[in-house]
Amino acid sequence: MSVERVGVLTGGGDCPGLNAVIRAVTRKGILTYGYEIVGVEEGWRGMMEQLARPLSLDAVSGILPRGGTILGTSRTNPFQDENGGQIVLDHMKAMGLDALIAIGGDDTIGVASKLCRMGAQMVGVPKTIDNDLNGTDQTFGFDTAINIVMEAIDRLHTTAESHNRVMVVEVMGRHAGWIAVEAGIAGGADVVLIPEKPFVLNEVCEIIKKRHNRGKTFSIVVVAEGAKLADGMVLQSQEKDAFGHVRLGGIGNLLSAEIEKRTGYESRATVLGHIQRGGSPTAFDRVLGTRFGIGAIDMVHNGEFGRMVALKGTEIVSVDIEDAVAKLRTVDMGLYDIAKVFFG
Ligand code: F6P
Repeated sequence: MSVERVGVLTGGGDCPGLNAVIRAVTRKGILTYGYEIVGVEEGWRGMMEQLARPLSLDAVSGILPRGGTILGTSRTNPFQDENGGQIVLDHMKAMGLDALIAIGGDDTIGVASKLCRMGAQMVGVPKTIDNDLNGTDQTFGFDTAINIVMEAIDRLHTTAESHNRVMVVEVMGRHAGWIAVEAGIAGGADVVLIPEKPFVLNEVCEIIKKRHNRGKTFSIVVVAEGAKLADGMVLQSQEKDAFGHVRLGGIGNLLSAEIEKRTGYESRATVLGHIQRGGSPTAFDRVLGTRFGIGAIDMVHNGEFGRMVALKGTEIVSVDIEDAVAKLRTVDMGLYDIAKVFFG
């Protein structure tokens, strides 16, 4: 089917760099390929409820440095509804969309992958601050997040040092500890705890005690929200979202209290939360988002549907969308070993 109108949507948690993708898709789509570009609002909810608006060159002008997404986002999962997949296909037709570019993490791309199987013409663009999408070496949003965390760790160092305290920094990362490891290395963390490696509290306390026994008076512990104690995970609430995820959070406070109790060192916790997803993207994320947007609209033009744009080394490539969601990309243990050299 020839393509004239192309939809673009952003789904799941927002992240810096989404607007760079939307801008690139729109510019190249209109100027090079003569497409009409349609912005679908609020992620998959927009496809379920036909919420959309045309995107002109003017509409995307000036959005490059803006965080978030001008299209809005949601965690709506069409497949929660028995006929949800068919409804999206019918609405694509009704809205005159010949193809759709879905920008999202594993949930959003997972929906796109199922819709492709049902015959839809879709291209995926990988986004998430968690950097846990398979098939790409990096997602955009991650670089901004680790820079925010690194800066927070730098700031916590000076106050930790002044007060002789242990500072526990809780960062995002449900199933993968990329943010904790990379920001931990960049910020010089003394302990980094990640979901991939369940930890024992006493072992963490021993590392800190050893450090203090050699004369250090403060410590920085970075913990991913999904990090597990060897005997279980800390949940903020049992409630699940449309994709079945529980809300994590609380491990930082628990850890800080336990460290203080077991070591006698005064401890404080900082939960960075959604600050990690907010604000202007770094240069790296603006460039990666732009390259992904150009790659995605080129793929539409070449009829490469059922695929996701990806970064492999320094090249932009296209990969099978099913492979991208087949499994999560967890932390490379070689990288974690590097972080461990600086523990204690
Ligand atoms: O998926 C990205 C992410 O930022 C996770 O790191 C985090 O667990 C989750 O989103 C938070 O989701 P919400 O914005 O719904 O609170």
